[in-house]
Amino acid sequence: KAKEKVQWVCSNCGYCAGQWWGVCRSCSVSGTMKEAKFSDRGVVSGFSVLEDGVGSWLPQQDAEVRPLRLAEVNRGLDHHHWRIPLSGSFGDEFSRVLGGGLVPGSLTLIGGDPGVGKSTLLLQIAAIIAKGHNDGEASPVVYVSGEESVEQIGNRADRLRIESDIYLYSSNDVEDILKKVQCLSPGALIVDSIQTVYLKGIMGSPGGIMQVKECTSALLRFAKKTNIPVLLIGHVTKSGDIAGPRVLEHIVDVVLYMEGEKYSSHRMLRAVKNRFGSTDELGVFEMSHSGLQAVSNASQMFLSEQHMDSEILAGLAVAVIMDGSRMFLIEIQALCLAGSTGSRQVNGIQVNRADMIISVLIKQAGIRLREHAVFLNVVSGLTLAETAGDLAIAAAICSSYLEVPIPNDIAFIGEVGLGGELRMVPRMEKRVYTVAKLGFRMCIVPKVAEKALGTESTEKMEVVGCRNLKEVINTVF
Ligand code: TYD
Ligand code: MG
Repeated sequence: KAKEKVQWVCSNCGYCAGQWWGVCRSCSVSGTMKEAKFSDRGVVSGFSVLEDGVGSWLPQQDAEVRPLRLAEVNRGLDHHHWRIPLSGSFGDEFSRVLGGGLVPGSLTLIGGDPGVGKSTLLLQIAAIIAKGHNDGEASPVVYVSGEESVEQIGNRADRLRIESDIYLYSSNDVEDILKKVQCLSPGALIVDSIQTVYLKGIMGSPGGIMQVKECTSALLRFAKKTNIPVLLIGHVTKSGDIAGPRVLEHIVDVVLYMEGEKYSSHRMLRAVKNRFGSTDELGVFEMSHSGLQAVSNASQMFLSEQHMDSEILAGLAVAVIMDGSRMFLIEIQALCLAGSTGSRQVNGIQVNRADMIISVLIKQAGIRLREHAVFLNVVSGLTLAETAGDLAIAAAICSSYLEVPIPNDIAFIGEVGLGGELRMVPRMEKRVYTVAKLGFRMCIVPKVAEKALGTESTEKMEVVGCRNLKEVINTVF
């Protein structure tokens, strides 16, 4: 059984002490210290946010709730209006990640490193919701910030050229926020960020585990009770979680993570949890001075600029990788240096995988790499986690070894086996289709995959099936 700890908590300011005081040592109000029992799981007894009128907006237990039949539940729902559509300057990227729009009464958590662009994204989302959609009427959106003043948010909105009906509010007190928001009955509530707000009467300072947990639960109850969707920003801590342990992820309905390389203008939004849809989707955005925008050709965005140029270097090969249900073309670089001691330097590829491919090239394809140093790199700092990139790695090494460039309109898809044979990878058809759509001239695939491909891709582009690495080398070089 979990160990319980007795604490004395001030019901006025939340000050917490190991002993009782007649007058709270923090807010100096007398007679407010109350006994509470805590375990490491949270409050056990003796203390409730419902006490003394605190949190009176919280839903009370409804006596009439009873189990409902499935048919009864679904009859009342109009499925077309079940989600709030969102499409703005960035197309339907955000909407798609959510699984087709924002669900009324849902609590969505958007996490990411500080500075990645969360506040900007949500201010843009606020503008989109506030503007309303074609058929629906516009409703205001409240953007609450515990980090920035209303002037600062106003300035940002100005930069983003936002003119929609948005209410700005700067506060840290959840109770105060929810009270004020409820009377406005907005189309959505945005809270920036969970680490800066607190609930009176709960132990700890803002950002602390107890506060973060209780504030999130309060926001969830608010969303469910009022049917107002709540979007919550959460900073990611150094260990990569939102507010330490992943407590928040269990409470909320949807968890999205915003990611991006520090020196790249691309930002990605990924669903980690979604009670209303799949977590397969990936949203891709580009930062600009006027906010986030959709990327016109996302599958191409990891190819380097040189790749598009006419002058081609030896040692480059294009692979097709999958992220969520989305395909990206990436460039693998290899450099083989003769007359050295056979060292291997690998970046963005698993070392074991690279070693294996090099050994297979030596043994099964007769490439004499034993006295060569081999350097491998994945352009744009990505990490290749799929075996679908094997063939491109092998092709890049051969290209550098033979000093023969691979034409920049050829892509490679396939896993390499120990016998040098090429193997199928998942979602072959979609990968090949992505390559064809981007105007590539040729795609090298495993022979076994050829049959599985639809005519859609093969009409536009030459798809060459190869049984093993030797056949690939004969075809390309
Ligand atoms: P911000 O939204 O404040 O990040 P977060 O809330 O995650 O900490 O964005 C960080 C900085 O980047 C800010 O100075 C604005 C700038 N920025 C742009 O100029 N354009 C953009 O499209 C985005 C997303 C951010
Ligand atoms: Mg911010």
